[in-house]
Amino acid sequence: MFDFIAVVVSYLLGSLAFSILIAKWVKGIDIRQHGSGNAGATNTLRVLGKGPAIAVFLLDIAKGILAVFIGDWLSGGNEWTMVLSGLASIVGHNWPIWFRFKGGKGIATTVGVMATLSFLPTLYAGLLAILLIVITRYVSLGSLVFAAFTPLFLVLLGKPLPLLWASLIICAFAFLRHRTNIVKLVQGKENKLGAKKGVSH
Ligand code: G3P
Repeated sequence: MFDFIAVVVSYLLGSLAFSILIAKWVKGIDIRQHGSGNAGATNTLRVLGKGPAIAVFLLDIAKGILAVFIGDWLSGGNEWTMVLSGLASIVGHNWPIWFRFKGGKGIATTVGVMATLSFLPTLYAGLLAILLIVITRYVSLGSLVFAAFTPLFLVLLGKPLPLLWASLIICAFAFLRHRTNIVKLVQGKENKLGAKKGVSH
């Protein structure tokens, strides 16, 4: 029963889309009507600038961390409940109940979830993603590489099965949510970090 409560609470927590809340608070706008239209830190950077973007990034990471801890506390350390709670927070971020199920792409929340579940593989995938973003200035490419390489590093470092399952599902979420970005990357039309663009979806 407590395991179920952990997953539901984590979903509700993940549904707190901080980019939407902060954009509303700072500028009175719906972030989903501006820039790329995504409710996330990258689009907050594009539309509102560095300060709000950093706040959104850290808060979205924090809710992923908290969700895994909620799973831990309410289950007495059951790894599957921790994994499911983490996944639920990402589902909440992507499809938030508080904002008509139109949320973000889940990468910052994934960073929080995966870093809490298994720090080193997440760090390695994160460093690779940062390197790619610095070189190409495509955040979406870095996000996709992060999502795809986390399972690989988990395997290479011999981490347990629940974590691998979580990372594979998260990877599927990331690719699903980045469909538009993938098409634009292939066409060479993807937004680069620092460039201002119109609504893309
Ligand atoms: O994590 C989101 C990022 O990968 C892409 O965001 O706004 O450029 O679609 P955006």
